[in-house]
Amino acid sequence: MENKKCVMLQIIYLLGFSVMFYLSVAVAAETDEDKSSMQTYIVWVKRPVQNLFFAKSHEDLESWYQTFLPDTIANSNELTKPRMVHTYRNVATGFAAKLTPEEVKAMEQKEGFVSAHPERILPLHTTHSPNFLGLQQGLGVWKGANYGEGVIIGVLDTGIGPDHPSFSDEGVPPPPAKWKGKCDFNGTVCNNKLIGARNFQSGKTTGGPPVDDEGHGTHTSSTAAGNFVKGANAFGMANGTAAGMAPYAHLAMYKICSEDGCTEGDIVAALDTAVEDGVDVLSLSLGGPSFPFYEDGIAVGAFGAIQKGIFVSCSAGNSGPSYESLSNEAPWILTVGGSTIDRSIRATALLGDHGEFDGVSLFQPKDFNSALLPLVYPGANGNPSSALCSPGSLENLEGKIVVCEGGRGRVAKGEEVKRAGGAAMILVNQAIDGYSVLADAHVLPATHVSYQAGLNIKAFINSTSTPTATILFKGTVIGDPLAPKVASFSSRGPSIRSPGILKPDIIGPGVSILAAWPVSVDNGTEGKATFNMVSGTSMSCPHLSGIAALLKSSHPDWSPAAIKSAIMTTAEVENLAGSAIVDQTLFPADIFALGAGHVNPSKANDPGLIYDIQPEDYIPYLCGLNYTDEQIQVITQQTVNCSQVGAVPEAQLNYPTFSIKTGSSETQTQYYTRTVTNVGPANSTYELALVVPPKVGMSVNPQVLTFTEVNQKITYHVEFNAHDDAGKDGVPFAEGYLRWVSDKHSVTTRIAILILKAI
Ligand SMILES: *[C@@H]1O[C@H](CO)[C@@H](O)[C@H](O)[C@H]1NC(C)=O
Ligand SMILES: *[C@@H]1O[C@H](CO)[C@@H](O)[C@H](O)[C@H]1NC(C)=O
Ligand SMILES: *[C@@H]1O[C@H](CO)[C@@H](O)[C@H](O)[C@H]1NC(C)=O
Ligand SMILES: *[C@@H]1O[C@H](CO)[C@@H](O)[C@H](O)[C@H]1NC(C)=O
Ligand SMILES: *[C@@H]1O[C@H](CO)[C@@H](O)[C@H](O)[C@H]1NC(C)=O
Ligand SMILES: *[C@@H]1O[C@H](CO)[C@@H](O)[C@H](O)[C@H]1NC(C)=O
Ligand SMILES: *[C@@H]1O[C@H](CO)[C@@H](O)[C@H](O)[C@H]1NC(C)=O
Repeated sequence: MENKKCVMLQIIYLLGFSVMFYLSVAVAAETDEDKSSMQTYIVWVKRPVQNLFFAKSHEDLESWYQTFLPDTIANSNELTKPRMVHTYRNVATGFAAKLTPEEVKAMEQKEGFVSAHPERILPLHTTHSPNFLGLQQGLGVWKGANYGEGVIIGVLDTGIGPDHPSFSDEGVPPPPAKWKGKCDFNGTVCNNKLIGARNFQSGKTTGGPPVDDEGHGTHTSSTAAGNFVKGANAFGMANGTAAGMAPYAHLAMYKICSEDGCTEGDIVAALDTAVEDGVDVLSLSLGGPSFPFYEDGIAVGAFGAIQKGIFVSCSAGNSGPSYESLSNEAPWILTVGGSTIDRSIRATALLGDHGEFDGVSLFQPKDFNSALLPLVYPGANGNPSSALCSPGSLENLEGKIVVCEGGRGRVAKGEEVKRAGGAAMILVNQAIDGYSVLADAHVLPATHVSYQAGLNIKAFINSTSTPTATILFKGTVIGDPLAPKVASFSSRGPSIRSPGILKPDIIGPGVSILAAWPVSVDNGTEGKATFNMVSGTSMSCPHLSGIAALLKSSHPDWSPAAIKSAIMTTAEVENLAGSAIVDQTLFPADIFALGAGHVNPSKANDPGLIYDIQPEDYIPYLCGLNYTDEQIQVITQQTVNCSQVGAVPEAQLNYPTFSIKTGSSETQTQYYTRTVTNVGPANSTYELALVVPPKVGMSVNPQVLTFTEVNQKITYHVEFNAHDDAGKDGVPFAEGYLRWVSDKHSVTTRIAILILKAI
């Protein structure tokens, strides 16, 4: 009994904000003594050996899976059915079923069993408030590559608001003949834009069409592939023409999440179906903490997808700025971090001493006259919950402008201030979030300012007996020269499960993104063209999914790894002002925040060279992670023998970046190769430009690459030598790059050096 409790606590801890959902499941289950410990397990089994009598038809797989269920229930169809939640046949070999720990134990004895783990519930990757602010993306719509025509993007999310004008099919041709998907909406709701819509939520008894009750899925879908909509805005802000990254691509929604999270078994089921339906790109703005890839439903399902040539883009997570905080680390996935765009929805705090501090707010009331109001900091009483303006912590603030400390529930803080009679709110960042601010749909006049501004405002309050302040609403301001900036929330590397692969891969817009929303968030908006601004790596991921669709449209023969390479080797590490991209501190962001850098779609469309990887190339890499043959088979669904294939170090995978671990005192030499494929002009000559990371020596051979044919491959060698003093100064990592430059192209491989035993 004691043991069981521990397991439960650990799961709840790992689930983070999905706690409520999990608890309700647990409570419901407890009503029946026998079923109290029953939960959904993901069970991986061996692929049945193919022979004349055991073809791989779906029915045969199903009956194979049934043999793993406990004998007592296997005999009774009626009881068996509800136990089996999902059966997988494309991207994974196994199933999801409701089982007790005892039943799982019994199953372990069966021939063909590989592993089982309780299904996890993964959060969506918006920052934690339900009212994230977003930023309109629609400006400067990317017009390359046929607007993504002919490409199908599958989005796994909370459903979709199908009649939104962003999903109009004006200008969108019918789907390609290979499309086999279904639309579970009534009659004519689906069209040439929204070509598929299905509901995979096993937790909900309703089934039914994949209606978006939350907003997240409508937002991410329209960011990836929304059609053009003029006059899109939220609260009148960020007004302009909205469009997704691939406005003429097709969309297929696979509903797997509610606002409480997304269950792993449903995610794998949706991936399994999407692959069979014929999608080209998969977009997943969700994820949990890092697990070994063979235990991670998204990693396993994504491998099945790339085996079929399908590109998989996932959000990096919102657990920044701490290091080692990533989700979705597998090297066959594009892992996308979040950054700002050059627009702010400005609201300036003006103090009684004329000090001004720029901040942001989506809600900008026209009837606020910006007269100076008495300024108070409830946290001055020493009570942390008053400082945070937590629910129930405030009273008697009639007519005042109130300073609240930031953190989770930004909009809720404003609700508390309003409840206590406050006239306005200045939301100040905690130290860790620095200068990273988000434009939210506040319920009262408000502005979100930096940590530094907060210090100044609090010092001003201390300096006078009658502090006053107000807010000046300045609307939509475009042209921040420091954009893109890495958002504080964006999860950081190094990768926990595979530190020899640099992650995140790329950053893209994720702060204050304006995109479609199923319902009006603003009483002033009429009709169906409703938009909202939200923030998170959930918003960055579909930007990259849409850009991948554009590349797929202009280069139909490129593999998922080739598309990824094109995006990464052409990424920007400088901001609009031409200096290094900064993070929430306004100091240069490091390589574990940026990955390869910020996406540049037009450069990605013409990269010159690519670093390609075939699905089978991952096998020696997985052997090098010391996974067992059986564990690797869970991922690859084919027989693997590492002693025959051989293992390679992680950094030997033909990845478009390098992440090298090196010791501190001894000199270590490491050799790797990389193979580039010429996708530029047939006759091209590339010369080496090398910025050697501090702490190591490095050499590359040859230093000139001469191509005479398209698709010609050349392999080069790289040698790293750790300096004797590496790590002595306690600096745990270093960065540099290796670049191949021709007269038309510049192909950059960013290099991270992780110094072990530093300090
Ligand atoms: C879809 O059809 C069902 C049953 O035919 C009906 O009850 C429902 O109102 C319809 N929904 C929409 C959005 O038309
Ligand atoms: C948005 O822009 C359009 C076109 O310029 C204009 O007609 C419309 O009034 C604007 N709406 C708002 C709320 O500013
Ligand atoms: C303001 O004064 C209080 C009490 O004297 C002090 O604790 C606090 O540190 C001061 N804050 C600032 C920002 O100076
Ligand atoms: C929207 O308008 C309705 C009716 O006028 C009002 O009750 C509601 O509070 C308003 N909602 C917001 C968010 O302002
Ligand atoms: C795998 O095992 C070998 C031998 O024990 C070890 O040298 C290597 O560091 C391990 N690799 C990983 C990724 O753990
Ligand atoms: C894997 O290959 C090695 C070396 O060829 C062989 O000895 C071993 O039996 C093989 N393992 C399996 C499970 O086939
Ligand atoms: C590439 O260069 C070779 C030798 O100079 C020449 O024969 C060939 O025609 C060139 N190919 C193209 C596509 O220009």
